[in-house]
Amino acid sequence: MRPKTDFSHQTYPVDPLELITSFSIEMGSITELGALSECAIQALCRAAGSTRGALYLLDREHECYRRSSVVGLNEGQEFPSSLPTTHALPQYLTNAARSAHRQDLRDQEQTDLGSSLAEMLSPFNAIYALPHMSRSRLMAFSLLSESSFPSQDRNSVQPLLNALAQAATNAIDTLILYDDLHRSHLLMKRTDRLKSLETIAGGFAHEIRNPLTSIKTFIQLAPERKDDPDFIREFSKIVLDDVYRIERLIEEILDYARYMEPKLTEEDINDIVSSCLYFIDVKADSHGVKIEKELAQDLPRVMLDRQQLKQVFLNLFLNALDAMSARGGTLRVRTTKRDRPGGKSWVQIETSDTGHGIQETNLEHIFDPFFTTKHESGEHEGTGLGLTIVHQIIQEHHGEIRVTSAVDKGTTFVISLPAIPE
Ligand SMILES: Nc1ncnc2c1ncn2[C@@H]1O[C@H](COP(=O)(O)OP(=O)(O)OP(=O)(O)O)[C@@H](O)[C@H]1O
Ligand SMILES: [Mg+2]
Repeated sequence: MRPKTDFSHQTYPVDPLELITSFSIEMGSITELGALSECAIQALCRAAGSTRGALYLLDREHECYRRSSVVGLNEGQEFPSSLPTTHALPQYLTNAARSAHRQDLRDQEQTDLGSSLAEMLSPFNAIYALPHMSRSRLMAFSLLSESSFPSQDRNSVQPLLNALAQAATNAIDTLILYDDLHRSHLLMKRTDRLKSLETIAGGFAHEIRNPLTSIKTFIQLAPERKDDPDFIREFSKIVLDDVYRIERLIEEILDYARYMEPKLTEEDINDIVSSCLYFIDVKADSHGVKIEKELAQDLPRVMLDRQQLKQVFLNLFLNALDAMSARGGTLRVRTTKRDRPGGKSWVQIETSDTGHGIQETNLEHIFDPFFTTKHESGEHEGTGLGLTIVHQIIQEHHGEIRVTSAVDKGTTFVISLPAIPE
């Protein structure tokens, strides 16, 4: 989103209160760092009466400050595109933690901090250097050129610049935190997905055994039956189907493992549920768990991300198997169509197990990140991320998830997703 107000093309001198107010309002509505820095540098230039300015944002990965937005006719000509974090200018701003005017720097030239910082600003044609500090870290800084209004009073401009710089810092900081949060969510999803791949791989190995046997048999028999056209025709059809089946399975697994941006497509929930049950079949068998499925025939389709929903069901099914690993039991999966007041249809997916259940004190925490009871028990070590991700994915699909449980009897998860109107 680009800034709505162009702060750079307004009359000078400015009304400080009006500038701060409109700038703060604008900042509150921007959700993207590029747009934010553009808005910030425009407002700063306007406050200082500068015709040129640049804002540099910290690039943590590459340990440098990257020029993110520029104001001025000769776009960026005087301002380098990036500066290493070790450069004297960001170092100075970090230590000083306040705005600097070239004159101040000149005055300090002979001091220990001085080290010709004024000279450093000259090649950039900058007169002001403003740090954007948060928690003692220089997140960004702005450079502003000489004012085109030489008569301006520095003593009144500097406090305004400081106030604007601080407002910009707060907004930048919030967006970076938001970005970090988004990134760690993605990372969590990916880690969790890779974890369930182990089960899928087990199911896959089992699944391809049958088609491989039929392919092998065909190859063994073909030399002696080569003159039997019926045999060759019929059997090659079967073998080809088996090869397609293996290809489809491989595709499913690769799709599941690959990281992708969410992609909404029109899907049949029954199909996704069946495909997940298929993958856990072997594991269920080895835990003495019987699978019962009851899939509604009249189920409307839902707009969803197929791989994410698979992740949801696999997490629920694997939790259910874990809860029944000691004594075996039954995993029951039911899909139904629900009509709600207002004429909207929902698809409901109910997963019940007859496992050890969840204690009431734990029930309110099961969706919390890293909540797990799987280090206390003999079960495999859990990360406690499974249900957090389930919850997150369902929310992103505008759905709902509810849970009921009784100790030693079992647990039921009910997911509802809005259906595509028929
Ligand atoms: N069907 C279930 N029956 C009993 N307890 C459950 C069930 N599903 C979840 N839980 C409880 O909720 C906790 C959190 O589940 P979650 O899937 O988030 O993490 P986890 O299963 O412990 O770890 P991971 O998913 O990484 O294996 C579990 O440790 C368990 O105590
Ligand atoms: Mg789990």
